[in-house]
Amino acid sequence: MNALDRIKPSVRALDQYVVKGKPPSPSLIKLNQNENPFDVPEALKREAVEALMASAWNRYPEVFPVQLHEALSSYTGHPADGVLAGNGSNELMYTVALAVVSRGTKVLVTEPAFFLYEKIIRLCEGEIVPVAMHEDLSYAPESIIETAKREQPALIVLVSPNSPTARSVTCADIETILAGTDALVLVDEAYIEFSDNPSVQSLIASHDNLIVLRTFSKAFSLAGLRVGYLLTNPSLCAELMKVTVPFAVNAFSASVAVALLNNLPVLRERIAYIKTEKKRVEAALRATDGLTLFPSDTNFLIFRTKENADVLFGKLLNDNVLVRDVSSYPMLDRVLRVNIGTREENDAFLASLNNHLS
Ligand SMILES: Cc1ncc(COP(=O)(O)O)c(C=O)c1O
Repeated sequence: MNALDRIKPSVRALDQYVVKGKPPSPSLIKLNQNENPFDVPEALKREAVEALMASAWNRYPEVFPVQLHEALSSYTGHPADGVLAGNGSNELMYTVALAVVSRGTKVLVTEPAFFLYEKIIRLCEGEIVPVAMHEDLSYAPESIIETAKREQPALIVLVSPNSPTARSVTCADIETILAGTDALVLVDEAYIEFSDNPSVQSLIASHDNLIVLRTFSKAFSLAGLRVGYLLTNPSLCAELMKVTVPFAVNAFSASVAVALLNNLPVLRERIAYIKTEKKRVEAALRATDGLTLFPSDTNFLIFRTKENADVLFGKLLNDNVLVRDVSSYPMLDRVLRVNIGTREENDAFLASLNNHLS
């Protein structure tokens, strides 16, 4: 028997995760992963590195990062026993799926949505119940409710604002979905800090089937250190804690996340900067011939081009501008995604785009 035959067919059927582009370099205008264009403030980095030097690397961190859970509890106003931090929110997606999805378990996922959900459900041999977005890429809450009633999924995943579509589902619609189903509802709020819609966190108190997932990778500038967290009711949280990888959050990442939560004004200023820049880039793209811009409720924009997305992606990359080709997602034929960077980065993107479209 071939060694590979020992690997589950659900794994063999998956593709490797690849991000198309070039490795980061000082000259690369990197706008492809919806990251914050600003690094963690230098003073904070220095303090963190000094603390790292003074710490014992031979010792395990706490099984769960208690201090971070407490800091998150103060930040969110949610009880600490309903908070679970992870090694990026991606890790917590695996935790929830491991806890809920077995062979044949139905999971309702909107289409298109963040790719990892579909991948993890396939890995767990669950059954994906897809619900398409409207043609304009807005959510179709009525179809979600109708499908949930018919298919009785164990889990419903809503990404709001969603990547790659940049649209949100309203709190009111999520409340209707929560009330109309006894499925667990996971709302991924990775981009909530950039959204004009409020978080659904306030609904946790009245809905014991709601899990809110967030990340430090976007607004908090911490993609490289891998910190995410979920908020839910304490009983559900205790079950998820049984599943999650022990020591998932390393001591360094946990302490930097706590430090960031103690430096919110600087983060808020940056969020405001990104939102202002977004309006400027949106206006420029609306005035550009040869593309159709979609509405966005977050820190990235998507647009449909006249030519093959891959061709325009390559032309931009030749100018050292790295965007994301999302054209292989359902409904996103000829669509590229670009996140908002610094003013200079945005100008470089717009100049390159105009050059290739005119
Ligand atoms: C919808 C969504 N959820 C979560 C994440 C972030 O994952 P992590 O917290 O693991 O960096 C991303 C990043 O691209 C995302 O687009």
